[in-house]
Amino acid sequence: TASLTMVNPFRNPESEFSLNAKKGSMLVASRRVNMEHVQQSRDNTDVLNTAMGEVLGLEKKNKATDERHKENTNGTAVYTSSRDDIKRTREELPVFRCRSQLLSLIRENQVVVIIGETGSGKTTQLAQYLYEEGYANSKGKSIVVTQPRRVAAMSVAKRVSMEMEVTLGKEVGYSIRFEDMTDPEYTKLKFVTDGILLRETLLDDALDRYSCIIIDEAHERSLNTDILLGFFKSLLARRRDLKLIITSATMNAKKFSTFFGNAPQFTIPGRTFPVQTIYTSNPVQDYVEAAVSQAVKIHLANDCSSGDILIFMTGQEDIETTFDTLRERFLQVYSKKFGTAKLEEIKDIEILPIYSALPADLQFKIFQDLHGTKRKIIIATNIAETSLTIEGIKYVIDCGYSKLKVYNPKVGLDSLAITPISKANADQRSGRAGRTGPGTAYRLYTEDTFKEDMYLQTIPEIQRTNLSNTLLLLKSLNVTEDLSKFPFIDKPPLQTFLSSLYELWFIGAIDAKGQLTSLGLKMAKFPLQPSLSKILLIAVQNSCSDEMLTIVSMLSVPQVFYRPKERQKEADIARNKFFIAKSDHLTLLNVFVQWRANKFSSHWCNKHFVQYKSLVRARDIRDQLLTILKSQKIPVISSGKDWDIIKKCICSGFAHQAAKISGLRNYVHLKTGVSVQLHPTSALHGLGDLPPYVVYHELLMTSKEYICCVTSVDPFWLMEYGALLYDIKRIQNNQESAAKGLFGEQYVHVVDQAEDEVDMNIRRCKA
Ligand code: CDP
Ligand code: MG
Repeated sequence: TASLTMVNPFRNPESEFSLNAKKGSMLVASRRVNMEHVQQSRDNTDVLNTAMGEVLGLEKKNKATDERHKENTNGTAVYTSSRDDIKRTREELPVFRCRSQLLSLIRENQVVVIIGETGSGKTTQLAQYLYEEGYANSKGKSIVVTQPRRVAAMSVAKRVSMEMEVTLGKEVGYSIRFEDMTDPEYTKLKFVTDGILLRETLLDDALDRYSCIIIDEAHERSLNTDILLGFFKSLLARRRDLKLIITSATMNAKKFSTFFGNAPQFTIPGRTFPVQTIYTSNPVQDYVEAAVSQAVKIHLANDCSSGDILIFMTGQEDIETTFDTLRERFLQVYSKKFGTAKLEEIKDIEILPIYSALPADLQFKIFQDLHGTKRKIIIATNIAETSLTIEGIKYVIDCGYSKLKVYNPKVGLDSLAITPISKANADQRSGRAGRTGPGTAYRLYTEDTFKEDMYLQTIPEIQRTNLSNTLLLLKSLNVTEDLSKFPFIDKPPLQTFLSSLYELWFIGAIDAKGQLTSLGLKMAKFPLQPSLSKILLIAVQNSCSDEMLTIVSMLSVPQVFYRPKERQKEADIARNKFFIAKSDHLTLLNVFVQWRANKFSSHWCNKHFVQYKSLVRARDIRDQLLTILKSQKIPVISSGKDWDIIKKCICSGFAHQAAKISGLRNYVHLKTGVSVQLHPTSALHGLGDLPPYVVYHELLMTSKEYICCVTSVDPFWLMEYGALLYDIKRIQNNQESAAKGLFGEQYVHVVDQAEDEVDMNIRRCKA
């Protein structure tokens, strides 16, 4: 009975997202997710990647691509043929035919909206045209292109540097959070995530170093893109010399033009081939299984040279399961047919996953040309919908879902949930099959579902996510006195707006009048969510900034431990050895400290089932945060082994994410009363006696609601940092102790009026 109909949270925009999101994930849960599996597959990534590489012979080719890249960037005469190739490829793109028209339109207008099919050359070519036209050289100014996704920013920069035959990081570079591959002196063409450009406005609110800004993939309506566009409304008036180019796939474009006073729209004439759409006749119970059998069917029925297969899945976990299942299935089929017993003997398929957490060298594989000798089966998140163009796809398999951030403003819970895609997404996905020739799209849902249940378009992120981070940034940019007057393309729901402000007020970033506090001002300087900036700054006051710096960095990387399927017990034992002080945060600290003591060794990591790559990344992040602290002359002090002070500081930023024990093994969320459980990977999970009060870093919703990365706290700390919300009461245990005049344990009591208070204040501010 698992059909799309029961899980569309956007059918009724008034509905409670969290409730529906829960339903959505329940569907998945019933399909295959059991929590351990999810965590394990997360923990497994590195091992898995290596396995993928080995099985598919990626390791070797990896080198080959790098070398090819070097060759091209060296640009010596020997490679003129490849230079001709590049030139030809560039000139064959649809956007090339409009080059001069586009350039004159841009010359004559401050804002231009450019619309084009995926693959027409918007992302890779437009910036180069502007560069060739001299926009980057005038008075040392450069061109910046924003992307909503990190992977796209990286891969496009790589591609463009190759096309321009320059070294990546010099003339052409990219910058994503915690990774800057640009050179302030040389870089003229910069690909960045929209979040990075938004942060740059903090340092220079006129964005003076740019002559042109291309907001790419604007149709995605990512939160940061929306905020940037709102911000540009006033900036464009201040900087008449600045060019703004907004590019969009075919959906949504009109809105941008209207937003910027009817800016001219230009549509790049497309070249697309017909795509046949095939629906399932009945709702699919398990989309991974359905996708796998469809892919196998296609492969067996069609010659390799006929084209590649692109499978859309929701995220890393799904992709990994699909990857594993696909391998198993092919092995079965091949051993039946040809007596092939080993995967490495299968020579005509290459299965390639692509998602944002995948290491960059593996991501790059999807662009390889296998010249029709092998069939690529690419398993992607919606990143392949518009941000990356992969040539040669003839078959698309669309699971019908994607992972979306959903926020329930009433209870202030933010989570990622698997939700049905919109009609626009579905068509975009199908379109991927028709780029190089006619193709076929297999939709793993019924035609009725498509027609009746899917939304026309996805709800913009700004209307379904927590805004505390963004609002803090806007506050510190001082764009408007009253944030509700900010020129949003689409306004966020009032509830979300208020509850995000409430969160900022609760952690002390703004005062009751909605003004930024001095703490809030400092918090905005860090590229971290407000709660993390806060614990770092409180740790500075409490002389444990050294430790907190490590904890915050470790919280910013995806997975620290790994747990290979065949060695789970061993891995668990290894992990248990790191557990300290009833705290996952301190456990993470412990891992890093021990790694450092072992000279940052990769051998040490392997031995202790720790992901080396994650730790290296955490170390990089730590260094960058350290630079920010130093630039603000903030001292970095160690507290030695005083765990309590560190835990107390953690409590300072997460007091609103507290839970208290209920029964023996369960917790309830203090503020909302929602029942939550410790995640199986938590250090606290194995404890005989669970601590009565905890704060958590993240909430994960699957079949149950899990709290992840948990630390035990003293209820008095909750009161100290959450006085707006909590109070401590002593209660009489029972009749008997009451009769004796004895009192039982103290307990934290939730004060109700806090939210109304900020609500009133904000309304007052507005009045
Ligand atoms: O942005 P848009 O979808 O209009 O196209 P694009 O990303 O600029 O892609 C233009 C061409 O460059 C396509 O043929 C892509 O396959 C190719 N490309 C590539 O080979 N490698 C990349 N990393 C990015 C694009
Ligand atoms: Mg593009």
